[in-house]
Amino acid sequence: MKVAVVGTGYVGLVTGVVLASLGNEVVCVDNDLAKVEKLKAGIPTIYEPGIEELLQRTARENFLRFTNSISEATRSSEVVFIAVGTPPSDDGTPDLTAVRAVAREIGKAIKAYTVVVNKSTVPVGAGDLVGQIIAEQGVDPALFDVVSNPEFLREGSAIRDTLEPDRIVIGAKKPEAAAKLVELYAPLDRPTLITDLNSAELIKYASNSFLAMKISYINAISRLCEACDAKVSEVAQGMGADKRIGADFLQAGLGWGGSCFPKDVQGLIKTAEKLHYDFRLLKEVVNINDDQTLHFVHRLRTRLGGFAGKRIGLMGLSFKPNTDDIRDAKSLVIIEQIIKDGGHVSAYDPISMSHVEKIYPEVRYASNVFEVAENADAIILVTEWNEFKQLDLARLASVMRQKILFDGRRIYPPAAAERAGLELHSIGE
Ligand code: UGA
Repeated sequence: MKVAVVGTGYVGLVTGVVLASLGNEVVCVDNDLAKVEKLKAGIPTIYEPGIEELLQRTARENFLRFTNSISEATRSSEVVFIAVGTPPSDDGTPDLTAVRAVAREIGKAIKAYTVVVNKSTVPVGAGDLVGQIIAEQGVDPALFDVVSNPEFLREGSAIRDTLEPDRIVIGAKKPEAAAKLVELYAPLDRPTLITDLNSAELIKYASNSFLAMKISYINAISRLCEACDAKVSEVAQGMGADKRIGADFLQAGLGWGGSCFPKDVQGLIKTAEKLHYDFRLLKEVVNINDDQTLHFVHRLRTRLGGFAGKRIGLMGLSFKPNTDDIRDAKSLVIIEQIIKDGGHVSAYDPISMSHVEKIYPEVRYASNVFEVAENADAIILVTEWNEFKQLDLARLASVMRQKILFDGRRIYPPAAAERAGLELHSIGE
């Protein structure tokens, strides 16, 4: 099938590359010429394990190409995906400026029947909006349909998630439009749910918000565990063994961040507001999440008797492992808290240091974790990168001023820390 994907961010590029790997003729579009040139040269514009190899292979085999022209891409495709950003505006409402602009360009270009697919995470009603904008360009309604096809991939495992999704959701007004996408995804052979447009749009927000709620729930339980000498890992294991609850997303930690959960939970709160429903449950999910990081930092502040003149080492900066994404990363909140109280921060992350450096140039960026530990009064494990899991903790401790380890992701067994002579402070115990 001939497919266009507009937007080469995480969702767009991964979708384009994966569809190309299934033998479709895919053109990926971006209005940023520098990005297009990079992609043409086989260099991914995002960090994602496995993408480079797949990108280069599909391009070499002529299944994948890049352009900055939406109209050229639309005219040469039967299906056009909109996969541009919908960042939160100041009040948390998703900003649809890019979606609108792309819909206008697509509308101007349509000459033959085209299925326009919203893959960007958009609030309920955005599918209708896209349809309206395309119609305003003078396109005959018989020449296009708008379909919602939300994306459920996770950064860090995006290619596998796209090839093996738990479910494919297709929201459409007409069965013929949905059928086109069913055909496109047929090779994946995954459970496929066909719904109306609004339900499909809501499924995405409801799913992300539910997962964020699950994490906030276990983080709230972690606070109880700290107060009553219980262990959150054991509580989570006991809860997760119940099939109705499930073990996933019950990992207590510093809280959820990234480019999706914070934006989508706010987005659903705002959607609810517009629909005259006060979603108090979700507001509390956000409060618990914000509080979780501040509480952990406060435990360290109390342990050190304040941050003034102290040096704190941070292991990991990205919002989760296997990504360079620092959007809403907990490291940023932690750095801010320490610096504002007169403390000094050293940090190491395998790939995201340059992004954080733009925000906090005053942090000392190290070339490895042992350098982070040098003369540190405490170390905080912020992101659970694999390479931190089997660290020589005794070596780490040997260069520290005070041998204090705050484990924000619960990766270090107490016995291992004790053997290394480290005082371990973990979440939820
Ligand atoms: C999330 C969803 O998991 C995807 O299904 C969805 O497609 C994506 O958002 C999106 O809307 O585009 P992502 O943000 O890449 O994916 O990352 P997750 O792996 O879901 O992690 C989100 C945050 O929750 C991270 O900060 C992570 O550290 C935290 N988390 C996750 C926990 O604190 N505990 C857990 O048990 C799981």
